[in-house]
Amino acid sequence: MTGRKALVLHGPNLNLLGTREPGVYGRATLAEVDRMVRDHARRLGWRVECRQSNFEGQLVDWLQGAEREGFAGVVFNPGAFTHYSLALRDAVAAIRVPVVEVHLSNVHGREEFRRQSVIAPVARGQISGFGPHSYLLGLDALARGARGRSTPRG
Ligand code: DQA
Repeated sequence: MTGRKALVLHGPNLNLLGTREPGVYGRATLAEVDRMVRDHARRLGWRVECRQSNFEGQLVDWLQGAEREGFAGVVFNPGAFTHYSLALRDAVAAIRVPVVEVHLSNVHGREEFRRQSVIAPVARGQISGFGPHSYLLGLDALARGARGRSTPRG
């Protein structure tokens, strides 16, 4: 047990997982995704806290507070904010805690507007298209980075 702690943030509309466009986002509910995330974190020897908000400012506050709250990294699905929220981009850029951007769907294979992420350039990396497993891969990336073997930024 390393005692490391990760913060998993879900953005807008992800509270509707399970019933929201199941052909795109699958049938797992947010509670089920969070259970998978917690089980995977345990296997990695990490603790995890999962939070969801439909509000941009709340997500900004959680990002700003991540270091103070003792989180070693953030796995972040910004939902539609991915594509236009400069406030979230600035928050990710402002903090020292590494942030991995994740998406359930493959944002690069959908509508044109989803191909742009304003978050990705300031995140450690982006994982997209593996359903709930995107979050688990995000945790793997944080755990790997924390062991000092991450690839360089940029
Ligand atoms: C999403 C992709 C976004 O484009 C969309 O607005 C979401 C979910 C995903 O996880 O695939 O809300 O972030």
